[in-house]
Amino acid sequence: MIETLHKRRVLLVIGGGIAAYKALDLIRRLRERGASVCPVLTAGAQEFVTPLAAAALAGERAHTDLFDRASEAEIGHIKLARQADAVVVAPATANLMASMAGGHAADLATTILLATTLPILLAPAMNVQMWAHPATRRNRAILEGDGIRIVGPNAGRMAEPESGPGRMAEPNEIADALERMLGLQAGDGPLVGRRVLVTSGPTHEPIDPVRYIANRSSGRQGHAIAAAAAAAGAAVTLVSGPVALPDPPGVAVVRVETAREMLAAVEAALPADIAVFAAAVADWRPEHEAGTKKIKKDGTGPAPMSLVENPDILATIARRPAGRPPLVVGFAAETDRVIEHARAKIARKGCDLIVANDVSAEGGVMGGADNAVHVIRRDGAIETWPRLGKDEVARRLVAYFAGLLAD
Ligand code: C5P
Repeated sequence: MIETLHKRRVLLVIGGGIAAYKALDLIRRLRERGASVCPVLTAGAQEFVTPLAAAALAGERAHTDLFDRASEAEIGHIKLARQADAVVVAPATANLMASMAGGHAADLATTILLATTLPILLAPAMNVQMWAHPATRRNRAILEGDGIRIVGPNAGRMAEPESGPGRMAEPNEIADALERMLGLQAGDGPLVGRRVLVTSGPTHEPIDPVRYIANRSSGRQGHAIAAAAAAAGAAVTLVSGPVALPDPPGVAVVRVETAREMLAAVEAALPADIAVFAAAVADWRPEHEAGTKKIKKDGTGPAPMSLVENPDILATIARRPAGRPPLVVGFAAETDRVIEHARAKIARKGCDLIVANDVSAEGGVMGGADNAVHVIRRDGAIETWPRLGKDEVARRLVAYFAGLLAD
């Protein structure tokens, strides 16, 4: 099966209800789709399923306690609330929904839910009357108003004799809803079933433990491309240098600092159908490896620093003898003779396409919200687009890449 949740990480909060047994099956379904799952069980959940069962199915430890010394030292609940692409609460009991709506943080699960900024999907499961109760309806409206998604509950047979809505959505329905929430729904978008690799941001080349060589790239365009490719249905890996941007939704992010780390991460992320090199990689790095000691000012003036060239990541991948992505895209930030330089770059680097932009000071492109690009193909075809927001440039580029792959 196509790994529609490839490299996505899901924090799965299992609430205390009989439907908790279906949460174990949900772990399997999510992993089948390529996701990794970090289970968190409430005290109530542990009355129905064991942390051991959840851990065995997830292939990693399950978390249960807010004040678990080992796990606080190792990860900490706040980190747990961040290191994923989404949070799924299944089953979401009436009590969990009420706690979330009220902003309570009484245990590990509710603390994570309050601390997280990730997209949250709830799969409620409860008695029919509890679901219909005005208090639950109010809580549901509050949660939806907070941007939380809800899947189910379904009508049907329940543990109790009553029937009506209250039964938790089936694991595959929850996995589908999660994909929709992350913009990954199979069958949607021109890049479904495709793998896209994007580099973004600057690199930092250490001079010593406190100083580095870098550039002004913000990573906005690269991150927007990763987000647009994910929204078009692709499984996206974003290899990013240090940036001050949030991770794009539904994208597997690998953080690096130096050009050499970026190359290694890119090679590890292959194969890909499309590789987009939007990072502003530092061309040079200090020749001598930064030690652990800060270089001191000793009154004799600065020591001369010699630089060596960094690996060219784009050229390395574009010229790969085996496993070259079918579409390799480079960027060119130029201040003059933009198209002419871009053509030369295609030939020099061996890529299929260059997205060229004018970064001269008047343009305000570097770090700004807009971009004006030319798309130049190896066969000489050129498109010049008007000045657009970087998100819109990203959407158009992704549609353009998808068109080329389909040809
Ligand atoms: O040679 P120049 O830096 O102008 O080329 C820009 C393109 O090459 C961009 O796509 C950039 O991401 C990529 N590049 C790279 N590794 C380098 C230098 C540039 O991938 N060391």
